[in-house]
Amino acid sequence: MTGPDYNQRLAGRRGVVTGAAKGLGLAIARRLLADGANVLLVDKDPMVLSHIGTREFPVSRAFALVKDLAEADAARFVFSKAPEALGTADILINNAAWSFHKPMLEVTFEEFDTVVGVNQRAPYFLAQEFLRQLSRAANKPPDSAIVNIASVNALAGNPNLVAYAGTKGALVAMTRAIAVEMKELGVRVNTISPAAIETFHTKQLIASGVIDPPKLLEPYLIKRFASCEEIAELVAFLCSSAASYVNGANWVIDGGYMAQ
Ligand SMILES: NC(=O)c1ccc[n+]([C@@H]2O[C@H](COP(=O)([O-])OP(=O)(O)OC[C@H]3O[C@@H](n4cnc5c(N)ncnc54)[C@H](O)[C@@H]3O)[C@@H](O)[C@H]2O)c1
Repeated sequence: MTGPDYNQRLAGRRGVVTGAAKGLGLAIARRLLADGANVLLVDKDPMVLSHIGTREFPVSRAFALVKDLAEADAARFVFSKAPEALGTADILINNAAWSFHKPMLEVTFEEFDTVVGVNQRAPYFLAQEFLRQLSRAANKPPDSAIVNIASVNALAGNPNLVAYAGTKGALVAMTRAIAVEMKELGVRVNTISPAAIETFHTKQLIASGVIDPPKLLEPYLIKRFASCEEIAELVAFLCSSAASYVNGANWVIDGGYMAQ
């Protein structure tokens, strides 16, 4: 028996990736395309459009949509546009998020509302629309998957991240509950909880002194940030048929941060 064709493990699949203008979301979209999927990149940042038509994002298989996912109509809008580009999507990657570092005692009502809106409410309603279109589809895709990008902050406390941590914990809990409620539909729903990743965002935090890398990496067994590609690799695995027995789980990928 031969194993899966690793390079085309997502051939024929149709994915929606949020927060794909840059950082991890862009790397995930690139990975899914390289593995054979057609992909719709969604972001509020119009920069998302600039990737389409490049070698890695060919116009025949990569599509982009500018939308602020905090808006009430966002999920419905995305899944009204997705069929034109993709047909019935069978992969949803909830990656877009807003993080901010602020002492708990100073966080405003508006900031709390925004972080919950982007990081928790948007993934919920995107999953709802994704599952609705799958349950309506005449020809159900044989394999379908949701991957929610959480954080080790869902599992371990860190100062100045209380509101953000709460949304990521909610994602882990929601993932399990969706997997259970939707089991008849055959959709696999998993969370990934990364520790520090080298992204544009983290580089900005280092430059502005919010993050001190040696201090941050002190509890890590592997003394470096993850690359976006290392996380994207796990996302692609969870979407593929190689992960056909994986459902309702939280995948910690953290350089050993949680080990001690
Ligand atoms: N960078 C890290 O160290 C780290 C660690 C653990 C988890 N994560 C998680 O990984 C994911 C990606 O992180 P990143 O560092 O690449 O983030 P990033 O800030 O670099 O990118 C996030 C993307 O989401 C988009 N976005 C934000 N709000 C949006 C909205 N309302 N509507 C549409 N798009 C929106 C942004 O425009 C951006 O392109 C996030 O879920 C984050 O919480 C990141």
